[in-house]
This record gives sequence, C-alpha cells and structure tokens, in this order.
Amino acid sequence: MARITELEVNGTRRHLDADSDRTLLSVLRDDLSLTGVKYGCGEGQCAACTVLVDGAPAKSCLTKVGTVAGKRIVTIEGLAPAETLHPVQEAFLEADAMQCGWCTPGMILGAVALLASSPNPTDAEIATGLNGHICRCGTYPRIVRAIRLAAKRAAKKGVHA
Ligand code: FES
Ligand code: FES
Repeated sequence: MARITELEVNGTRRHLDADSDRTLLSVLRDDLSLTGVKYGCGEGQCAACTVLVDGAPAKSCLTKVGTVAGKRIVTIEGLAPAETLHPVQEAFLEADAMQCGWCTPGMILGAVALLASSPNPTDAEIATGLNGHICRCGTYPRIVRAIRLAAKRAAKKGVHA
C-alpha cells in the first residue's frame, strides 16, 4: 500500500505516515490536528471540508491524500499569519456572517478563491461561486454581505481580498 510521508500545509512541510488512499480531511484533522477543516456530510454535498489546493477550492472529504503530495494546501488555520486575520475573515466577523460556524472555514476559503478569480463579484456571481457550500443556519444574506465588504475594501486598497 502506498504511503504519504510529507505534505505542504499552510506553508510548512509536515511529516506524517499515512495510507495514500485516506481522505485529505481525515489526515488534516486526525494526523495534523487541523480541526478548522470541518467534517459535514463526508460525501461531497456540503463543502464544509473545503481547503485550498494550489489556490483552488477542494472538498477534502473526497480528496485522496495521495493526490495532493507536492501541492500547496491551505486550511483556515494558515490563511493569515499567526494572530492576524485575513481580510475575508475580518469581513465575515463584521458582517456577523456565521451562527454555529460549522460551514464558516470552508465558506471563507471558498470566498477567498472566488475573490481571487473575480475581485468584484455581483451577488449572482457570489451565489454561483459558492454554489455547493451549505449553511444549515441560513446565514447566506450575511455571507454575501461579507464577501461584498471584503471585495469593496480590497478594491479601495487596490489589492486582492
Ligand atoms: S464534508 Fe466534504 S462536502 Fe461535506
Ligand atoms: S453558520 Fe451554521 S452551518 Fe453555517
């Protein structure tokens, strides 16, 4: 059985010993203690487990860890330097865009990827871009508000959110 002994996570090379057929979700949470990666449905239906792989959102519950060796993985823990918040995290806090918070890490990482490809999205583009991210608490209007806020601030500063 093939094994994975190294992963690049949040800018750091992490050593581990995992069966390459295990899910990235399980390895991140159980082996690397990155519990910001949330287990929702476990079958690709909710996007709570979203992480970034080489900048693109990926559902870690469906991703075999063997397929991401050598790729840059970012979880919510590594989105901003320690003790700081990413602008999208700040906007989610300000817009109160969470209730239980279970969907929030995946939602934020999805939003970061969306804003990287579409810096000033319309509400329709936000809805399309985050299609598949389920919020059981129904905070969608506040999530859209947060993403618009992050986009507006980034535009003002002339940077990407
Ligand atoms: S836990 Fe991965 S999509 Fe629901
Ligand atoms: S805030 Fe509870 S699932 Fe989204």
